Amino acid sequence: MRVHAALALALFACIGCGDPSPARGTAFPESWRYRDTPAPVTATNGMVVTTDELASQVGVDVLRSGGNAMDAAVAVMFALAVVNPEAGNLGGDGFLVLRTAGGETAALDFRARAPFASTRDMYLDDAGEVTEDVVVGHLSVGVPGTVDGMWQIHRRFGRMEWAALLDPAIELAGGFPVRPRFLNSLGDAMVAALQAFPASAEQFLPRGGQPPAVGDTLRQPDLASTLRRLRDLGRDDFYAGETADLIIAEMERGGGILTRRDLAEYQAVWREPVAFEYRDHTVISMPPPSSGGVTMAQTAGILERYDLASLGWQSARTIHLHAEAWRRGYADRNHYLADPDFVEMPLENLTSAAYASERGATISLDAATPSSEIGPGLESAGEAATSPGATVPEEGENTTHYSIVDADGNAVSVTTTVNSWYGSKVTVTGAGFILNNDMDDLAARPGFANQFGLVQGENNAIEPGKRMLSSMSPTIVLGPDGELRMVTGTPGGATIITTVFQTISNVVDFEMDVVEAVLAPRVHHQHLPDQIFYEAGALSPETVSRLEALGHVVVERGGLSGDVQMIVVVDGLLTAWSDPRRGGRALGY
Ligand code: DON
Repeated sequence: MRVHAALALALFACIGCGDPSPARGTAFPESWRYRDTPAPVTATNGMVVTTDELASQVGVDVLRSGGNAMDAAVAVMFALAVVNPEAGNLGGDGFLVLRTAGGETAALDFRARAPFASTRDMYLDDAGEVTEDVVVGHLSVGVPGTVDGMWQIHRRFGRMEWAALLDPAIELAGGFPVRPRFLNSLGDAMVAALQAFPASAEQFLPRGGQPPAVGDTLRQPDLASTLRRLRDLGRDDFYAGETADLIIAEMERGGGILTRRDLAEYQAVWREPVAFEYRDHTVISMPPPSSGGVTMAQTAGILERYDLASLGWQSARTIHLHAEAWRRGYADRNHYLADPDFVEMPLENLTSAAYASERGATISLDAATPSSEIGPGLESAGEAATSPGATVPEEGENTTHYSIVDADGNAVSVTTTVNSWYGSKVTVTGAGFILNNDMDDLAARPGFANQFGLVQGENNAIEPGKRMLSSMSPTIVLGPDGELRMVTGTPGGATIITTVFQTISNVVDFEMDVVEAVLAPRVHHQHLPDQIFYEAGALSPETVSRLEALGHVVVERGGLSGDVQMIVVVDGLLTAWSDPRRGGRALGY
């Protein structure tokens, strides 16, 4: 590694001379919106960081009353389904990565599956174009996995009674005060979209078809009843009981294809986490059907060849290297990765040091490689994909991440989604929860962009029962001493992987504390479209010019990039920060 780093530095000596090379995150560009870096929230016993203060409080209450981090993860999930219903969910899915205090690691896949009646071309019209059905309405719904996921985590690692984990959410469903964050999800377009589905309008637009106001109490009686049934009857109520009946009735009402068999056969799956080294740290993340762990392992392997700390945080040189590493990683992601129960993937090769060297050797230090010249790597992988019109859209708040560490040192990292804002927009009548539109995470038309601009391939084409490829990347990092160092994750569609990696690199390469690591502006590249995206104000005009001089197309991205909920352990102290981009809360004790 040292040899590579020295070589890279020597070759870089003249590129971007005069490039600002701040060693620490506090040197954010003047244009950046977060110039202050307050002290982190600290605690010695336990920490819960979520997108919502009420949900964080539920998690802390569980920890204080003797529950472990896994118990808190279950209680927080159900609380988020009430207070952050546009993203926290019963009708969606997610992934969970954990490390016990004893060092055991596990990854839980509660990803949705395509209904058995789905077909490869079900979203194509006569002209072969993808229709709206893939994102809105009953046909866009994948078989929800969240409830079984929570049941599995509880069964394997839980210390508290199942009922005690549901009670706080039931209370919140009785009524909670509406805050601005919730209303951010209910803009005019969303209100119009929800109005098309009567149960959604009744649930989320209680002021005569309009959203509640800040300070109103939002009551969700149907959701409270569903949560009560889950509390009293367990996961079977959702997959084979009264809740299942309500889901099937909703499908029949709206022309959906999800059946009783889909629900009855759904099972969350324990998988082996992806673990890789990055500068003497061990990163533990989610394996397929998430692309997060593998893509981060690949890009980390390439970036480790360079001494990013010397090149400077967000210098043009560092961003160039990130973009080149991600370009190559996403080319492989989009081509190879998919549901491991359906396709063979060369995961060992993709994450090997030898492959990182081979891929890294194709990076020019003084020029961007056009994505049209970067196909997936490894033998007989095929041509570089092209996709005119692909773009990376602004994000909604449709996915959410939370991070938890308990007093024993158990750590849990969870990312959960309904995919788009309010998922399919369909609320299950009588059951009070939104259904996902995860079918768009499969390749409705392989080789063409989905709503996140991802151009995914044949491996991720629609097949009955298949789990959709995801970018969700709940992650845990150990320090060089093998002890817990970070718990991190974010929403953000295709940008999840690059955002999570940047939070880790900010700490490992640039010695940022947790506040700086979360606040720091972010950049993104995903192979296609062939562009570096940056948050408004993230880059100085000089840095943009230097990147353009290297041949990059550099584009300011509208909206917000990510919503990180992160814990960093510093000499045994838990330090945490919730991303102010949308406003959550870190609570410790
Ligand atoms: O699984 C995925 O990759 C997507 N369904 C995640 C969606 C998402 O993060 C939207 N973000 N705000």
